[in-house]
Amino acid sequence: MYYKLLGRISEDLTDLLNDIKIESLRLWDETPSIKVMPNILSRARVIQFQDPALVKRLRESIFPEIFQDTDIRVINHQVFVAPPHSGNIIHKDGVAKKSAFNIIIQGTKNDWTRWYSDELIESFGGKLHVLSLHASNLAKRYSRNISNLPNFPELPYTEELTGLMLPGTVYLINTDIYHAFFNNSDEFRIVLQTNFVKDPPDRNPAVEELDAKIQHTGLLNVNPL
Ligand SMILES: [Fe+2]
Repeated sequence: MYYKLLGRISEDLTDLLNDIKIESLRLWDETPSIKVMPNILSRARVIQFQDPALVKRLRESIFPEIFQDTDIRVINHQVFVAPPHSGNIIHKDGVAKKSAFNIIIQGTKNDWTRWYSDELIESFGGKLHVLSLHASNLAKRYSRNISNLPNFPELPYTEELTGLMLPGTVYLINTDIYHAFFNNSDEFRIVLQTNFVKDPPDRNPAVEELDAKIQHTGLLNVNPL
């Protein structure tokens, strides 16, 4: 499974999504770039999202309490901010991160996320660049990059999610298959990501496991598309 569309956030949460947007853009302005990005097409940044009041509202509004204390738990949130007409090069998340839960805060129908099989990456001559595990937390999250394919938007792909990346869309993403994303609009693209762990600590559930848990427990304020 590459992704699973779960639905759209209820209009009752419009204020919450707007407050997340304002906070995300503030974080973008405040966060210095960790390195010079030579690739104009890959200027997205991932920023820890930990404003306590907003995180509390988010968790209480969307995740039933069972997600706080049982086998698969919400652990933290990040925001992916991509300036107009840029995205993120092909990568797998973290060292062994398998899945995540995304909410589009700002986005358009023309934006995309694409996945690429290992065989495709090999056929492109893609070179895996693994950052040191002792690097900062931020770098850790980008530890499996294909850095030598700066023209990633022009490459063939295995699977694509597009047309539905509108504000409020909620989906699960398989982060353990090579993927990239791109903002095809004149505004910032903002995606709020929730991460989960399962026992033993520091293990991340596969997207199928996370999907099964969500089907079992349900979500709050998420309506079918
Ligand atoms: Fe990713």
